[in-house]
Amino acid sequence: MTPETDVAAKTHGNAVRDALPPIGLGTWPLVGPDATAAVLAGLESGYRLIDTATIYDNEDAVGAALSTCGVDRAELFVTTKLRGSDHVSGDIRGAVERSLDRLGLDHLDLFLIHWPLPRLDRYVAAFEGILECRDAGLVRYAGVSNFLEHHLRRLVAETGEAPAVNQIQMDPTIARVSVRRAADELGVFTQSWSPLGRGETLRSPVVTAIAERLDVTPAQVILAWHLAHGVVPIARSANPARQAENLAAVHVRLEPADVAALDALDRGESAARDVEREEHF
Ligand SMILES: NC(=O)c1ccc[n+]([C@@H]2O[C@H](COP(=O)([O-])OP(=O)(O)OC[C@H]3O[C@@H](n4cnc5c(N)ncnc54)[C@H](OP(=O)(O)O)[C@@H]3O)[C@@H](O)[C@H]2O)c1
Repeated sequence: MTPETDVAAKTHGNAVRDALPPIGLGTWPLVGPDATAAVLAGLESGYRLIDTATIYDNEDAVGAALSTCGVDRAELFVTTKLRGSDHVSGDIRGAVERSLDRLGLDHLDLFLIHWPLPRLDRYVAAFEGILECRDAGLVRYAGVSNFLEHHLRRLVAETGEAPAVNQIQMDPTIARVSVRRAADELGVFTQSWSPLGRGETLRSPVVTAIAERLDVTPAQVILAWHLAHGVVPIARSANPARQAENLAAVHVRLEPADVAALDALDRGESAARDVEREEHF
């Protein structure tokens, strides 16, 4: 299959869009009782999308919150990610089963290849392994993270399937316009990590001026910008008041001029982490 036939590939982006809660709760770098407490507080505030990863070393702590929260499993959307060592070993089913065991679940809602690791050239095989786990009922949606346009196109060309989700670094200063455009074309839904720029972008005068005018917080302005672009942000806070504040961003409506002013903060692709060179195990 050539990239020209991409559009004929099986896509799951629309189905996952309907299944995804609008804002997710991030859990890195929380571990142990702090991670359990943050996830329990988040679930109490109303979060239903919980984002973890094998490499965060907190799947057991997240699982402890999931098993005691009292929320129906069917309401939860739990994401975890394939770590580099499992990606390289090729034992994808073993990796999924170990994550399920630590999380205390019988299926994952979304399983992502955490990093493309292009130097090792194993990501197509890893994606095929996740598709097999999906077909075996262990995973609802097969996805990727930190993939660039050419990685996405290669997956589609070689497997005939588009990943349901690409989770990428994104905030108004790192807007990822080209990779999002390619994802849209291929039917891949975009989620954003570090959506608040790890707190940095909250201090931008453009953000604070809009927040003041709309009588909302800077974090709500930024999260509303992600939502305006049709992206599901995965925001992290260990503070219950900020968790609730972030979730309430779904009610914030930005004017087109506000979205444009935030778009203008973009520093371009070179401001994003270099996934081609960075190793991630
Ligand atoms: N796929 C990947 O490769 C990848 C990479 C990195 C992260 N992630 C995921 O994405 C999640 C989010 O990214 P992130 O944790 O790097 O960064 P982030 O969500 O952009 O920022 C988190 C920081 O912002 C602060 N914060 C949150 N809400 C706030 C508010 N309303 N007002 C003021 N400060 C606020 C938090 O502090 P407090 O806790 O004190 O509120 C924390 O210091 C991670 O937790 C992880 O699940 C994925």
